[in-house]
Amino acid sequence: MIDEDREWARRTAAGLPPLASRSVSVLALARRPRPPARGEDTGAGWCPGLALIVIFPAAGSGGTLGAAMPAMGKDVMEPGFAASEIDTSRPHPARMYDAYLGGRDNYPVDREAVREILRLYPETRQVALANRAFLQRAVRFLAAEAGIRQFLDIGTGIPSAGNVHEVAGQVAPDARVVYVDNDPIVHVHASALLTGTASTGIVLADLRDPGAILAHPGLRAMIDLSRPVALLLLAILHFVTEEEDPAQIVATLLDALPAGSYLALSHATADFHPPGAAAQATAVYKNATAPFVPRPFKQVAAFLDGLELVEPGLVQAPLWRPDGKRPRPRDLEKIGIYAGLGRKAPGR
Ligand SMILES: C[S@@+](CC[C@H](N)C(=O)[O-])C[C@H]1O[C@@H](n2cnc3c(N)ncnc32)[C@H](O)[C@@H]1O
Repeated sequence: MIDEDREWARRTAAGLPPLASRSVSVLALARRPRPPARGEDTGAGWCPGLALIVIFPAAGSGGTLGAAMPAMGKDVMEPGFAASEIDTSRPHPARMYDAYLGGRDNYPVDREAVREILRLYPETRQVALANRAFLQRAVRFLAAEAGIRQFLDIGTGIPSAGNVHEVAGQVAPDARVVYVDNDPIVHVHASALLTGTASTGIVLADLRDPGAILAHPGLRAMIDLSRPVALLLLAILHFVTEEEDPAQIVATLLDALPAGSYLALSHATADFHPPGAAAQATAVYKNATAPFVPRPFKQVAAFLDGLELVEPGLVQAPLWRPDGKRPRPRDLEKIGIYAGLGRKAPGR
């Protein structure tokens, strides 16, 4: 079992930042109609409804009731969902990722799945950390070198160290960030921890309905789609099946953005494992709320088709413009995640 307190102590001893807030010991959830099932048309993504804040035990082992959420932005007062709709019977990718990163916003069912994945692939925690580090380097590049001031981060995850608005804000305090995720828990945590400023917003919506994301008033209020946007699809497309047409989803989003916009992408792969090894991981995720679909290099690269690749192109995440020393080959073994950045040129 993942001992959260031990993990927190380990992180502290190692000088690592806490990766998820312990302060959110209560989830404040606003009433919302049932979240869309996979494949269900989400319409406009968010239905207006009556806000109802309820107190809910924390996901972490403490499970204590605490004070109501400290920094509820307006979003959490907008349409929400019932506490009973937090599904603790199946692993959620966001909560599993939180567990990989040493956070404590996860439930026994998530930790059980993570234990199984770590038993099969002990390197998974390194993969998650490598992805998170790529996110930070990519956002820094986009803000500092590409001059991007608008970020659309779809598949935000439970807030962790070095969130997009924090990294972008260090370079460009005027940067605007809209976070999008389809997991109610992410929405609650993000509302508490990420928003509260005029330049950061959170939208509960599904990547598989890109039209709803683009039309969402929460996005439109923050992002000017006539000016360059960095679209972040980090560790999310591997939760979209071929039948759900991820290429078309990416194309729809990119079509809505002007030239000079960027796509930052990271995507799990089984290319660094023996043939057949991925089957066990996909089996674990079969019980989760989203399937796991690692893809080979060629299929991941296709998502960046038509974009000008930023050097060094699509590579294993630690190899994308590493800070400091270039990783050694042995640091890259089994690090099954590709990462890359592409720029939309005029006429694409
Ligand atoms: C592995 S986490 C990645 C978090 C963050 N992007 C990062 O790279 O550190 C994947 C996130 O994508 C979200 N997600 C998965 N499928 C989604 C979908 N169809 N629409 C919106 N969000 C989704 C999950 O809820 C989770 O928060």
